[in-house]
Amino acid sequence: MILRKFFAWLAIVAGVAALPGDTIVVPDWHLQSSARNSNNLTELSLPGADVATWYPVGRRSTVMAGLLENHVYNDKALFYSDHLQSVDMSLFQVPWLYRKELKVAALKPGDRLFLITHGITSKADVFFNGAHVATPDVQQGAYGGHRYDITTHVQPGLNALLIQAYPTNYLRDLAVGFIDWNPYPPDNGTGVWRDVELKHTGPVSMSTPRVRTDFVDPNVEDVVVTVRTDIENHSDSSAEGVVQGTITSDDGVERQILSTPFDLKPHSSGTVSLDARIADPKIWWPAAWGNQPLYTVQLNLTVGQAQISDIASPTSFGIRRVTSTVNSHNDTVFRVNGQTFPVRGGGYSPDLFLRFDADRVRNVFQYMLDMGLNTVRLEGKQEHPELYQLADQMGLMVISGWECCNKWEGWEYNDDADGEKWTDQDYQTAYASMHHEAEMMQTHPSMLAFLVGSDYWPDDRATKLYMDALRRMDWPNPVIASASKRGFPKELGPSGMKMDGPYDWVPPNYWYEAQMGAAFGFGSELGAGVGTPELGSLKQFLSADDMTALWREPGRSQYHLSRNDSVFRDRSLYNKALFARYGPPVGLEDYIHKAQIMDYEATRSQFEAFAARQSAKRPATGFVYWMLNSAWPSLHWQLFDYYLRPIGAYFGAKAAMRSEQAIFDYKTQAVYVVNQSLQPTADRVISIDLIDINGTSISHQNTTTESVPNSSRKVANVAGIEDVRDVAFLRLILQDPVNKAVVSRSVYWLSAENDQLDWDESTWYTTPVTRYANFTALSRMPLSSITSDVKHLEEKGFTHIEITLENVSDVAAFFLRLVTVDPITQGELSPVYWSDNYLTIFPQEKISVTVRVPASEVSIIIKGGNVEQRVIY
Ligand SMILES: *[C@@H]1O[C@H](CO)[C@@H](O)[C@H](O)[C@H]1NC(C)=O
Ligand SMILES: *[C@@H]1O[C@H](CO)[C@@H](O)[C@H](O)[C@H]1NC(C)=O
Ligand SMILES: *[C@@H]1O[C@H](CO)[C@@H](O)[C@H](O)[C@H]1NC(C)=O
Ligand SMILES: *[C@@H]1O[C@H](CO)[C@@H](O)[C@H](O)[C@H]1NC(C)=O
Ligand SMILES: *[C@@H]1O[C@H](CO)[C@@H](O)[C@H](O)[C@H]1NC(C)=O
Ligand SMILES: *[C@@H]1O[C@H](CO)[C@@H](O)[C@H](O)[C@H]1NC(C)=O
Ligand SMILES: *[C@@H]1O[C@H](CO)[C@@H](O)[C@H](O)[C@H]1NC(C)=O
Ligand SMILES: *[C@@H]1O[C@H](CO)[C@@H](O)[C@H](O)[C@H]1NC(C)=O
Ligand SMILES: *[C@@H]1O[C@H](CO)[C@@H](O)[C@H](O)[C@H]1NC(C)=O
Ligand SMILES: *[C@@H]1O[C@H](CO)[C@@H](O)[C@H](O)[C@H]1NC(C)=O
Repeated sequence: MILRKFFAWLAIVAGVAALPGDTIVVPDWHLQSSARNSNNLTELSLPGADVATWYPVGRRSTVMAGLLENHVYNDKALFYSDHLQSVDMSLFQVPWLYRKELKVAALKPGDRLFLITHGITSKADVFFNGAHVATPDVQQGAYGGHRYDITTHVQPGLNALLIQAYPTNYLRDLAVGFIDWNPYPPDNGTGVWRDVELKHTGPVSMSTPRVRTDFVDPNVEDVVVTVRTDIENHSDSSAEGVVQGTITSDDGVERQILSTPFDLKPHSSGTVSLDARIADPKIWWPAAWGNQPLYTVQLNLTVGQAQISDIASPTSFGIRRVTSTVNSHNDTVFRVNGQTFPVRGGGYSPDLFLRFDADRVRNVFQYMLDMGLNTVRLEGKQEHPELYQLADQMGLMVISGWECCNKWEGWEYNDDADGEKWTDQDYQTAYASMHHEAEMMQTHPSMLAFLVGSDYWPDDRATKLYMDALRRMDWPNPVIASASKRGFPKELGPSGMKMDGPYDWVPPNYWYEAQMGAAFGFGSELGAGVGTPELGSLKQFLSADDMTALWREPGRSQYHLSRNDSVFRDRSLYNKALFARYGPPVGLEDYIHKAQIMDYEATRSQFEAFAARQSAKRPATGFVYWMLNSAWPSLHWQLFDYYLRPIGAYFGAKAAMRSEQAIFDYKTQAVYVVNQSLQPTADRVISIDLIDINGTSISHQNTTTESVPNSSRKVANVAGIEDVRDVAFLRLILQDPVNKAVVSRSVYWLSAENDQLDWDESTWYTTPVTRYANFTALSRMPLSSITSDVKHLEEKGFTHIEITLENVSDVAAFFLRLVTVDPITQGELSPVYWSDNYLTIFPQEKISVTVRVPASEVSIIIKGGNVEQRVIY
């Protein structure tokens, strides 16, 4: 108890904002339901109120996140089976109160104190020391950031801040919704989910700096950087002063001084521009193409005799250029620093309760880079500034934008969704939201584009507001009307992005056709609906009955799929294909094993098709995989599971996106070589081997090519496919003929009968299959025999191991999974970085893989297809 009081005191002391330029982030709150408060809010917002019965919560906390933090609910329990449904939703149909007492230093005459918000869901009243400083018509929307002058209400010593957050309905409010992705959080994300700050300034304040450059071509000798900031005179007399600062490179080598005088009339505002010429600029590149050098701009503003009136928080930026155009097919093409940038993206989900953990996001981004993805798409899930900083540092591009299917797309011409139509008030909230998000994102080199619509384009009035806000914030990046080709506002032109599905299962050859979501143009959200977790994860969130239903009742709805009013509430399409192609499962483990095979096949074929077709007559210009990750433990639409365990879908994706890669085209049976890098060309040997299920060679070919940077080319046709009976294995090895290094290695399992699609019966989410490929022979393969050899590699903080596996039998070893587990608990470790996994090894073949895992005690198991499960380490 004493300790708790001590920390409470510390937090209050931490609150002092003694000098102009100081900012305090409200470090935490007390949270309570308005239903359990009988006090008058004016009085409750005076210092000294009794909040002993309230819940202490963190600085960014939706109501549900706060209740979880206080163990009112437990997420392991809520995430189990359908328990989330049992939360009493009526608790969230009343406003909730957030309260904090803060010590604020006395203000000198002329100084100001501002309260800064970054969005409160769905809308809020804000009280400060008994004054009602903001009403819900202004403080509205999850992204509505505002600044309120609270100078006249500040008192010496303790001050109290009270926020009343109103309930959220996704169809009525501009909030952070989940559409059909998963069941909704019971509070619909209500509350103070983003930071609230107090900012002390002198008589003149300045905004966060914005940065533009005249950079066009990486070969330039110098670049002019223009830093802009909005300044405002809050006093009754005119203000003269100087905005000054520095630009420094992150290696400390470059240092430019900025300085410009200003003169502002009373209560007026203006924008100051400061230019600097940087010689030999260090160019920022996406991870696959180079480094991520950053520069930092630091600005302060002085008035009178060099008195500090405001200090801007240090802002980093990168020198790079992104553009987008639509090509002759009306497909969007992005370029980064002049190079065509084939987007290999994934659709991001925040946590169900919007709990933000920068370390988790770093992990998610690390996984993306590990798979070879280069872009994350945030559909109305703009999160926090740290996400963009991580993307900048890691070289991951970001496509941001607004979300579909609810209030955000309440247009007259949108009959697909139930979002309420916009009122004048909503247009104002939309402007404030765009302005605020643009300000947050403006300097980040990772920004590739902002999509002002998703399924539907904004109406002309909203488009104008969005564009006004973006221009006001000196937005330097592409703005795209929507993620679909349904229509567009005149001001923005065609989006160049298709949204023609699929979202549910389709076979591998789908992607090589020329219709719907197949690999041509830019697919803004598409995938075969896969992402099955492994058994260890399933046991954490499914009941025994849920798990049995997975294979015994393949058409049954599962609570851990999409919402129950969505076509994705069950896996009937997926399971029909799994049963037909791989044979009816004989148990849960068999089902999950087959699911991993299906998932691997699905992601690999999609990602490879978009790579193979990147140089086609109608090029595949990019895709965003639907989806990267899930808001909670889910059975689908993810490349790794909620517990950050990589799954079949992950390694299928990874196998498809190596920097240089040989690819099998499921439709034409051709082999392509794709090179994602920008390095000069080099000679390559491609070995193509086809063997039957008994290990006998059907064909062997070698061919050479010069792989060409950032492009794809066809190099051969696979011989002997017409001779395949039942199932055969195809291995493609791309090799450097000089040093003999293996550049890429892939194995495909091919059926004598390919899947057959019925395109005319396509829906918005799938294309039906009239005849399935037949892989049932894979279940009857004789056991293979694998030897293993383990070598330790040194790496601080990680167990880093190289494993060499040799197949000493005469048949292929099919789809072997290596798992790292805790030696004591046998629980699967995560995060974990495998160079490759779910391996198929040819007879007498020897391969090596590596694993890195941040744990000191690790045990490794081999299991899967036709091998005996055993511990190899
Ligand atoms: C709340 O208290 C303030 C100050 O005591 C008073 O002026 C106001 O009328 C009260 N409001 C309500 C709704 O009772
Ligand atoms: C959440 O929003 C949905 C509409 O999308 C609405 O049906 C539901 O009632 C809302 N929940 C709460 C607690 O208000
Ligand atoms: C303001 O900026 C100038 C120029 O960079 C610098 O010398 C000075 O230390 C800064 N002052 C503060 C208080 O940050
Ligand atoms: C700052 O605002 C005050 C109050 O309106 C005004 O008297 C003064 O001239 C302004 N200064 C400038 C430089 O605009
Ligand atoms: C591209 O879009 C424009 C505008 O809608 C249209 O006029 C043109 O016909 C389209 N071109 C193609 C190839 O679809
Ligand atoms: C669907 O979900 C809603 C909200 O959780 C629930 O009220 C309803 O009972 C569910 N319907 C079915 C058929 O499970
Ligand atoms: C593989 O071997 C089995 C057993 O000898 C035989 O029945 C089968 O026909 C063979 N399959 C092929 C494709 O040769
Ligand atoms: C094909 O190339 C591989 C790798 O360089 C080599 O091992 C193999 O012997 C070659 N095959 C033929 C028929 O030349
Ligand atoms: C393709 O990429 C690799 C780097 O992964 C590079 O070494 C090679 O020279 C590139 N160009 C080719 C093969 O055309
Ligand atoms: C699939 O192939 C197996 C042989 O591997 C065969 O016995 C079976 O009849 C085939 N299934 C169908 C539906 O054709």
